[in-house]
Amino acid sequence: MNKLVLGLTFALTAGASSLALCADPSEAHQHDHTSMDMSMPMPMRTDPAGPMKDSRQLVRYPEPMRIHTLANMRDHLATLAQIQEALAHGAFDQASSLAEERLGMSSLQMHGAHELAMYMPKGMQEAGTAMHHTASQFAIVAKDASVTGDLKPVLASLAKLNQTCVACHATYRLH
Ligand code: HEC
Repeated sequence: MNKLVLGLTFALTAGASSLALCADPSEAHQHDHTSMDMSMPMPMRTDPAGPMKDSRQLVRYPEPMRIHTLANMRDHLATLAQIQEALAHGAFDQASSLAEERLGMSSLQMHGAHELAMYMPKGMQEAGTAMHHTASQFAIVAKDASVTGDLKPVLASLAKLNQTCVACHATYRLH
């Protein structure tokens, strides 16, 4: 009798796991789908447990420029925070002008991009240009949202902007 119960249990378990197997591919597909949505180029992750090795390319700026650049960077981060805060209040116009004036094409003069460019490897210049373009695109998307009230495209565009920061940081360092 016990054997029968065991046998039954086994059959049921086997049945369940083959069901689970059946369910797997669709689940895997769903995962693929999710990761596709997030499939912006991600930098290599450093393993926190592994040996720390900085493989980013070292770029040398004259010291005053390095200090100036890092101050700008901190302002970039502060701007992203202000943009997020504005979005949380539905202040799309404000988010739009913050992005355009402090990060977008309009900010190039302010950041002394021209003088800096000659110290930057080509890839870094391109990463910088990508950030300014993407910020100006965000500014337009956010402006549109002040009419539509639709936050989703704004968040997607903000994520793209954030990704341009991540991309450059993954490749270059200053000191
Ligand atoms: C063109 C390349 C590039 C882009 C684009 C870029 N950064 Fe940076 N950023 C750097 C480099 C290089 C450093 C120095 C990193 C290092 O030496 O480890 C840096 C450093 C920083 C720092 C640290 C500042 C400090 O005081 O040490 C912050 C914060 C930062 N970036 C924020 C941002 C944000 C936010 C964005 C996007 C809106 C952004 N950066 C876009 C290149 C870039």
